[in-house]
Amino acid sequence: MNVLVVGSGGREHAFVDVLSKSRDIESLHAAPGNAGMADLATCHAVPVNDLAGLVALAQRLAVGLVVVGPEVPLVAGLVDKLEAVGIPALGPNKAAAQLEGSKAFMKDLCRRARIPTAGHRAFNDASEALAWCGNIEDWPCVIKADGLAAGKGVIIAQNEQEACDAVRAIMLDEQFGKAGERLLIEEFLKGEELSVIALVDGETVAVLEPSRDHKRAFDGDKGPNTGGMGAYSPTSLLTPRIYEQIEERVLIPTVHALAKQGKPFRGLLYAGLMLTGEGPMVLEFNVRGGDPEMEILLPRLKTDALQLFLATATGTLDQIEEIEWTSDACCGVVLTDGDYPLSTTPGAPITGIEQAEALPGVRVYHSGTKREVDGKLVTAGGRVLCVTALGSDLADAQRRVYEAVERIHFRGARFRRDIGTREIQRSASPPAPAAG
Ligand code: AMP
Ligand code: GLY
Repeated sequence: MNVLVVGSGGREHAFVDVLSKSRDIESLHAAPGNAGMADLATCHAVPVNDLAGLVALAQRLAVGLVVVGPEVPLVAGLVDKLEAVGIPALGPNKAAAQLEGSKAFMKDLCRRARIPTAGHRAFNDASEALAWCGNIEDWPCVIKADGLAAGKGVIIAQNEQEACDAVRAIMLDEQFGKAGERLLIEEFLKGEELSVIALVDGETVAVLEPSRDHKRAFDGDKGPNTGGMGAYSPTSLLTPRIYEQIEERVLIPTVHALAKQGKPFRGLLYAGLMLTGEGPMVLEFNVRGGDPEMEILLPRLKTDALQLFLATATGTLDQIEEIEWTSDACCGVVLTDGDYPLSTTPGAPITGIEQAEALPGVRVYHSGTKREVDGKLVTAGGRVLCVTALGSDLADAQRRVYEAVERIHFRGARFRRDIGTREIQRSASPPAPAAG
């Protein structure tokens, strides 16, 4: 089968990588792809927001499946257009993708289906939101732009001043454009964060191995929120009891509620959760695989990826017995350029990837790289690479990944040095509380 992967980041590189191992792949394509994917797939210069161009490409290549990585084409309705020409896709249609495309839609769905999430109020008017900030008694609170804001539309305000500044930035200064026409003010939840990602075929829910992202820019969870600075899998945070709660109270009711509204969800459903004293609560839903979560999950997948994705796209996930994983742990460290997430200085030559990948269990996924005409690999801004390593346990995987990271060099390279450290400490002293 010919398969097209849509996107240009580390997550899509991981999709291409795992699909390349599938026995039924005839040819692999990526749009637009990146320098890393180009080793395994043919890259086509069609951007992710050119829906008509992507459909035409998929038809020309006679693909049997399109794997859609990022949220933008999903929320814009790429899957509806592919369905209209009879091409199955891994990813929800426009109606179901609202779960990520509008936080107000997501909150409304949670309320109707009694899915636990932070209390909130939605505002369409800046003056009403500003007045509401004056009534808040419990600080901090969380201010969120309603629409897609590339992971940047969430501000944790410590006091009224910061909350009002956030409302003004989102609604009056239109920092996130149309995404900020509506805004949510939300109760702040305390606890440990956990991502759970599941394959959903409209009805059947198959939960993937648990993983843990590190969203803040600096060690010790300091600094601004980013798309993700590193991740590991599995994690002891997901005990069998919490797993059951998440499945029963969050994933299954969400999938049923969407189906009941006539918006059945097919694709990767990502629940961002806070493990609170009252049980798991939903922070957000994404309608796609996480980045860097997919880079550390897919290397552990033993089940044939193409079979699994096709079953999800065609509503036959119930025919797959069980998803199989290696018993290895995986640790992934994101290398960023310059001042990410604030600014970038692209164009720096990258060296050492081959030397890093010579280490056992190491795989380097490209997120923001570019091949220059002379063949030189350079940075292309933001998150540049996701270096991953498999190991017999997380401590082993962490040791290997940092050894690999040390072999890679580019101007301004920055990374967190504590990816997985808290989990390793937790496993070393099991009764210790999972603080902060
Ligand atoms: P989101 O994009 O909604 O997941 O928000 C990004 C990050 O902001 C989350 O990963 C949390 O760290 C934080 N966050 C969002 N909502 C809340 C909340 N209600 N309480 C505490 N932290 C939150
Ligand atoms: N790593 C977080 C996300 O993909 O949204």
